[in-house]
Amino acid sequence: MSNDNTPSPYESHVPSHREAEPIPDPGLPAHTWRPTDVDPKAEKRAERQIAAMFVAAMVFAVLFVVAYFSFEIGDSWDTFGGLGASTVTLGLTLGMSLLLIGTGIIQLARKLMADAEMVEMRHPAASPPEDREATIQALNDGLDEAGIGRRPLVRNTMLGAVGVLGLPAVVLLRDLAPGNALDINKLAHTIWEPGMRLVRDVVGTPILASEVEMGDLINAAPEAMFPSEENGYPELEGAEEQAEKAKGAIIIVRMDPSELTEATQPDKWTVDGIICYSKICTHVGCPISLYERTTHHVLCPCHQSTFDLADGAKVVFGPAARALPQLPIAVDEEGYLVAQSDFTEPIGASFWEREKL
Ligand code: FES
Repeated sequence: MSNDNTPSPYESHVPSHREAEPIPDPGLPAHTWRPTDVDPKAEKRAERQIAAMFVAAMVFAVLFVVAYFSFEIGDSWDTFGGLGASTVTLGLTLGMSLLLIGTGIIQLARKLMADAEMVEMRHPAASPPEDREATIQALNDGLDEAGIGRRPLVRNTMLGAVGVLGLPAVVLLRDLAPGNALDINKLAHTIWEPGMRLVRDVVGTPILASEVEMGDLINAAPEAMFPSEENGYPELEGAEEQAEKAKGAIIIVRMDPSELTEATQPDKWTVDGIICYSKICTHVGCPISLYERTTHHVLCPCHQSTFDLADGAKVVFGPAARALPQLPIAVDEEGYLVAQSDFTEPIGASFWEREKL
């Protein structure tokens, strides 16, 4: 509020008790002009610096795409402190691109946008229509003052940098499926094969059919995830090991064979009431775990999909759209549980192309 006698345009918004305020309005300090306000050369130099940042941001966004296609995920696993070339280069290039765009915009605001102090008095919360019109006018004036329209070099490079930043987002969509999303056949198979033993999760010990108690739920894995000289399975590493481990996870339950419906293929795929399903929820792939032995229902903790294990693991509640895939099992000559084959349908979250596999 000014100290002279000139009527303020905001006077109508000033509450009447304001005159009684004990501390006088100190007013604004004298304005200090920036070098770019008074020196056209400095202004041009700042303009070029800012444009250079936006151009560099574009280059880093393109380098992100190059790095994405140049390094396999998990490739060069030992490099860069064990992080891998793909992770480091993707992080650095995208990070630099975002940093340069952010720095360019900050410099644009600090050095080139209009530098004038504005004073606005507080006013009642409900704005009258004329105030709203004035706000829109002020916004338009602000855009004019920012000078974006008068500086095509800065405007175009900034728009270019933000536009090119969309490229990383597009290529990252490719990663919405495990492995190479273009090779959907990978989703159709797991490491299970005929004769592979079912082993306990974590410890890797094979499971005798006679050991499985009625009402038990056992978390288990393929024997190939515990390679040894004895079983002859090859050692897997890195991302491949993690993917196969996740896809091969199973649960084993035993119930009275008379309780199994035809959907479980009791004469072909189960052993004395022992039945085996994928542990991966068919909604969006959480590991299911909560088993209620009296109802034979198993619950996914993520969104409460519930499957009836006595009835082919059909969905009885929740957002999952299909039953848990069943692993056909048998016993070998030593009495251990083994797989008859891989799963007969893709495990995990459903996807459009699943029917074609
Ligand atoms: S992931 Fe299981 S219910 Fe959503």
